[in-house]
Amino acid sequence: MSRPTVLMPTPMSDVVTDGCTAHFDLIRLWESDDVDAALAARGQDVLAVATGGKRPLDAALMDQLPDLQIIANFGVGYDSVDVEAAGERGVVVTNTPGVLDDEVADTALGLLLMSVRELGRAERYLRAGQWPTQPYPLTPTTVAGRRLGVLGLGRIGEAIARRAEVFGMTIGYHNRHEKDVPYRFYPSLVEMADDVDTLVVVAPGGQATLHLVDAEVLRALGGEGVLVSVGRGSVVDQTALVEALRTGTILGAGLDVYEDEPHVPPELMELENAVLLPHVGSASVPTRRAMGQLVVDNLSTWFETGRALTPVSTAAS
Ligand code: NAP
Ligand code: 8YV
Repeated sequence: MSRPTVLMPTPMSDVVTDGCTAHFDLIRLWESDDVDAALAARGQDVLAVATGGKRPLDAALMDQLPDLQIIANFGVGYDSVDVEAAGERGVVVTNTPGVLDDEVADTALGLLLMSVRELGRAERYLRAGQWPTQPYPLTPTTVAGRRLGVLGLGRIGEAIARRAEVFGMTIGYHNRHEKDVPYRFYPSLVEMADDVDTLVVVAPGGQATLHLVDAEVLRALGGEGVLVSVGRGSVVDQTALVEALRTGTILGAGLDVYEDEPHVPPELMELENAVLLPHVGSASVPTRRAMGQLVVDNLSTWFETGRALTPVSTAAS
């Protein structure tokens, strides 16, 4: 029996590439000198796409793959895939939920600690040889007793909340739907921001969440407020955030995600009260390996059983 043809538009980790090579006929699109010609020649063979999100999986690309059955996305966030177009074409979309929750939650707590206790700044102070001159200044606030609001209390948000409990924080959240959890639900994001001093953003990207965290929300968060953002950069109005950090509207921010990755604007770079990470929330070898294996397992299971392990809901499903 011939092996299913899988298209990989851009390079992915060895786990995914080796796994796909072992099980499927893999088209490494990025190796083609002429991508359009390669798609024209092989597009009708393609039953599956494995994507790392670097090239948008849009309707135009799907139309070049008439027998496409499944798109397996590396990452729990799948905002680079047009799920509506996939649903209209009966194409299943999968992501990699669950296997990265602890890693991303750890990163969020790391950003929070670094922001509140100025750990990055303090380290730069030491390395600049300033310690012998005078001790690093005391930080104006501390972590214990902070009031945390989570925007997007899903799998990762709950892992963040569990950690925050141990750090002595009180916890609330804003989602579209209330959950059966021991945390206060806020139907309004602005009301939550007004009531807390620590806002952790871990909601998905896309139009529905675009700039949910805007100047009004940042004003509500207030002068002792710290924003941590590990969901998608598009959820936060970055221009408003720079202004809020510059003017002291909020105390500080810890960011792993940005509006135009991998570009971080100089206005943000120059702010000492911003802790900036290069989207490393899930970036450990074991976690990325588990994510890659889930991409391969979704494809294998689909072709063996006609069911995917971790499908996301599309417009038609
Ligand atoms: P999840 O379990 O689906 O949780 C997402 C939460 O966001 C849900 O509780 C959902 O609740 C809420 N939400 C969705 N749309 C909303 C809206 N318009 N307004 C308010 N709340 C909304 O997803 P997850 O696994 O925790 O992952 C969350 C996101 O983190 C991913 O989508 C991805 O973008 C990001 N992420 C980043 C990294 C990184 O490296 N920095 C790593 C992994 C994931 P309702 O449905 O009730 O609204
Ligand atoms: C990855 C992520 O960095 O899972 C997600 O949604 O943002 C991260 O785990 C990303 O998907 C890698 O492309």
